[in-house]
Amino acid sequence: MYPPYRFSVAPMMDCTDRHCRYFHRLLSRHALLYTEMLTAQAVVFGNADRLLKYAPEEHPLALQLGGSDPELLGRAAQLGVEAGFDEINLNAGCPSPRVRHGSFGAVLMTMPKVAGDCVEAILDVAGNIPVSVKCRIGVDDQNPEVALPEFIEAVRARGVNHIIVHARKALLSGLSPKQNRTVPPLDYDLVVRTKERFQDLVICINGGIPDLVQARKLLDRGLDGVMVGRAAYSRPLPTLLDVDELFFDSPGKRNIGEVVDEMCHYLLRQHGNGIPYHQVSRHMSGLFFGAPHARAWRRLVSEPGALSDRGVETIREAARKCLDTRPLEHAVASASAVCT
Ligand SMILES: Cc1cc2nc3c(=O)[nH]c(=O)nc-3n(C[C@H](O)[C@H](O)[C@H](O)COP(=O)(O)O)c2cc1C
Repeated sequence: MYPPYRFSVAPMMDCTDRHCRYFHRLLSRHALLYTEMLTAQAVVFGNADRLLKYAPEEHPLALQLGGSDPELLGRAAQLGVEAGFDEINLNAGCPSPRVRHGSFGAVLMTMPKVAGDCVEAILDVAGNIPVSVKCRIGVDDQNPEVALPEFIEAVRARGVNHIIVHARKALLSGLSPKQNRTVPPLDYDLVVRTKERFQDLVICINGGIPDLVQARKLLDRGLDGVMVGRAAYSRPLPTLLDVDELFFDSPGKRNIGEVVDEMCHYLLRQHGNGIPYHQVSRHMSGLFFGAPHARAWRRLVSEPGALSDRGVETIREAARKCLDTRPLEHAVASASAVCT
């Protein structure tokens, strides 16, 4: 049995909420799913019940926390542990201005001692639950060859043994968060060398992995796991449908019609709880990426009001239309052929 971090879906704000994760779980039973980053402040002083809510089907599920105050992080992690998350993760990679002013996220890479204090506070309450850190290879003018191992040493010294490295620097001034996910060049080789150096740690790689073929190649270079973000969100079928088979040696590949059907039931249940349809259905907008009727599908599931006017049955009809087209089946089949 492989550990869930072998393939994970990255934390993505405004994307990987509980509805998105429910949908992703229908495509892969084993991939590790992450929440969006929640600040420790929000979890401790806000509505923790709402923020930490998830469906039991979402396991294995990691909670990502943002913060730089060890005491607050410890309290937030405690709530996460009580809520039943399978892993607590500290965000040391986010470059957004909001996060920078709170002195957490990627800024923590310049403060390894503070990062160490933070993970220690989380570990103190985590018990048997794994604690991980998601970081960059460095920020601004840091030399990644020095900054990354220094940072890892600092958190390892406090007891963390699982690091996810987004394999590019974060530039804290001058680039938007979006540019910070594309402009600084990727350095996969450094992450591979980092694993060679820290054999005792679980090292997972993230950043710019476009498909399962590349994900497998990275795993074959000795890394412990791959984390995929945007590809999983925007092209969920070719990215997630073969994950169980290719990364967990487990029978996978759900029938797409069944997935749509289960999402329709889920939509109705959530609607009954007062959640507008599109808040759930928008996460399925990439489901038929590349298929001839994908545009109409995208509009139907992502435009507010489109479903309330026409009802959930229209989702089944639109899905049938997309599924009747060969190119989609071909796209999924060829992705798995290359990977095996
Ligand atoms: C819309 C969006 C929101 C993101 N939010 C978070 C977040 O909350 N926490 C985090 O650690 N990374 C966040 N990221 C970064 C991703 O987790 C990931 O590191 C990055 O997208 C690179 O991986 P990818 O190329 O596979 O997408 C976000 C990325 C995107 C696109």
